[in-house]
Amino acid sequence: MAVKEELLALLLDAGEEAVSGEEIAGKLKVTRSAVWKAIKKLKEEGYQIEGVSGKGYWIVKESDRLSRAGIEKYLTDYKQEFAIQVYQELPSTNQRLKELADENAPEGTVLLAEAQTMGRGRQGRKFFSPPETGIYMSILLRPTFPLADTVLVTTAAAAAAALGVEEIVGKPVQIKWVNDLWMDGKKICGILTEASMAVETGNVDYVVVGIGINVYPPENEFPEELKDSASFIWGGEQRQIRNRLAARILDYFWGYYKNLDQKEFFQEYKKRSLVLGKKIQILGREAKGESPVSATAVFLDDRLRLVVEYEDGNTEHLSGGEIRVIV
Ligand code: BTN
Repeated sequence: MAVKEELLALLLDAGEEAVSGEEIAGKLKVTRSAVWKAIKKLKEEGYQIEGVSGKGYWIVKESDRLSRAGIEKYLTDYKQEFAIQVYQELPSTNQRLKELADENAPEGTVLLAEAQTMGRGRQGRKFFSPPETGIYMSILLRPTFPLADTVLVTTAAAAAAALGVEEIVGKPVQIKWVNDLWMDGKKICGILTEASMAVETGNVDYVVVGIGINVYPPENEFPEELKDSASFIWGGEQRQIRNRLAARILDYFWGYYKNLDQKEFFQEYKKRSLVLGKKIQILGREAKGESPVSATAVFLDDRLRLVVEYEDGNTEHLSGGEIRVIV
């Protein structure tokens, strides 16, 4: 870890207590001048740090900039299980994490980026990821369950993100099956889960769960094609929720993932469903020369597959794909 990150962790741990320059230098095994330079960098990143000679340094106001220490401060239950890395910019956190997974990165590796230049969405779409206004986060799993169960990972992530957002923002979130989160009638979060199979065994080698949340309004507004459908979760003046939100989502998600077979998150998922009882269109069949099919979303089954009833009375359990809510 860089001196700056270690210093940040130390100051955040100390809370309102002042830590002397000498103590910091001793703990981090660096010179007093290196400490001073790291303090300067943190201040440039928006941390308000006070320093009184003879007393030491302490943080008065945290920065909203995403950081490992900033997130770890708010992790409650599973801090030891995550190895968090934060980047200023990446093409895609999912893509980078898959590369790390291929190089044997362990389960619990988490990547975040302040911006993505090639953020990936479902169905080959791009995920709009402008700087410093969102959470773009990918989590590496090395599960022992079959590929079919990865849908549970996605739905557990959706429930965890919904709970985290509601806890911090205080407004209700709905889940549009399978994995979009909505607030006030617009999409505020998308989830993309990618799995890799081990060729020899046919088992899942790893799973990367990518969560993208529009936290603040983007500086230059949403692009034209998203204007009517996308929104953000926090329009307030005080912008200081991203580290805490990332931590709350990681904690909720890990709790669900560790006990995936207990399906603890089903209730949380189901009660936020935006689609049940609604008329929907099932999309994505156009490629096969078929037009979108209309149906009613009736219930979510024991694997959170969407059970739909067609106009002729037949039913089908959908395990993925794209739907549009009509009424
Ligand atoms: C969707 O809405 O279609 C899914 C969007 C998923 C976006 C997240 S942001 C973090 C992670 N990295 C990516 O490139 N994509 C996912």
